Amino acid sequence: MPTYNERENLEAMATRVRSAVPDADLLVVDDNSPDGTGELADKLAAEDSHVRVLHRPGKGGLGAAYLAGFSWALEQDYGAVVEMDADGSHQPEQLPVLLDALRQADLVLGSRWVPGGRVLNWPKSRELLSRGANIYARLMLGIPLKDATGGYRVYRAATLRAIRLGEIQSQGYCFQVDLALRALNGGLRVVEVPITFVERIHGSSKMSKSIMVEAFWLIGRWGLASRWASLRGARGTEPRGSLPR
Ligand code: GDD
Ligand code: MN
Repeated sequence: MPTYNERENLEAMATRVRSAVPDADLLVVDDNSPDGTGELADKLAAEDSHVRVLHRPGKGGLGAAYLAGFSWALEQDYGAVVEMDADGSHQPEQLPVLLDALRQADLVLGSRWVPGGRVLNWPKSRELLSRGANIYARLMLGIPLKDATGGYRVYRAATLRAIRLGEIQSQGYCFQVDLALRALNGGLRVVEVPITFVERIHGSSKMSKSIMVEAFWLIGRWGLASRWASLRGARGTEPRGSLPR
């Protein structure tokens, strides 16, 4: 669970995660939040051995925070790794359904844009941005996913080991698209499960123009690179870092 200025949200989320899936451990990856989220996380960890904290020196982006969390989890030998926002948008109560779907999959995506998926309290503008980004990714990359940008997911540890995390450069939210694409290119089973996404009540989104610009350019580049590769009938020239098909 990556956090940047989520002090008002973290404790309730930690409680909900712990009661929804009591066997799971919760790792908070905090980027030295100025609002004291890191100290709160330490307090929660002191009270509950299932809660752990990774402190990072400063705001390094969602992708970098997740990469650090993933390496920690792989070192500790967990079998499955979950991504979840700390702001209440992802419902811990839906996690058992996502975990169950992992029995038949290598990567499970919580999806807002499949039948049964919902978004509550988003302004129309934000819905358009998310739908537009997903259509763009689908067309550019030729992928069948309805919600490739979402951040409520479950990976098998083996999936994270297979997709060459060391080569990843995306820092912002297009990290999510990057990982889904790598899993698909690696021939892994990616399934979408409907979720109810609830817009945060406290704090604010860290989405920014530079995050959008990064996503636009990187997705465009990956799309063109894979088209170029298939035009040439070449192997090994797929989008940067992807596995051979
Ligand atoms: N450690 C760390 N560092 N955490 C971060 C950073 C960062 O630089 N940036 C964001 N986060 C954390 C937030 O604190 C929150 O827990 C989570 O990442 C999501 O950030 P939000 O800023 O709330 O994202 P959103 O609601 O606008 O994002 C939606 O779109 C994203 C991109 O598609 C959600 O659907 C996300 O799940 C999705 O990844
Ligand atoms: Mn959010």
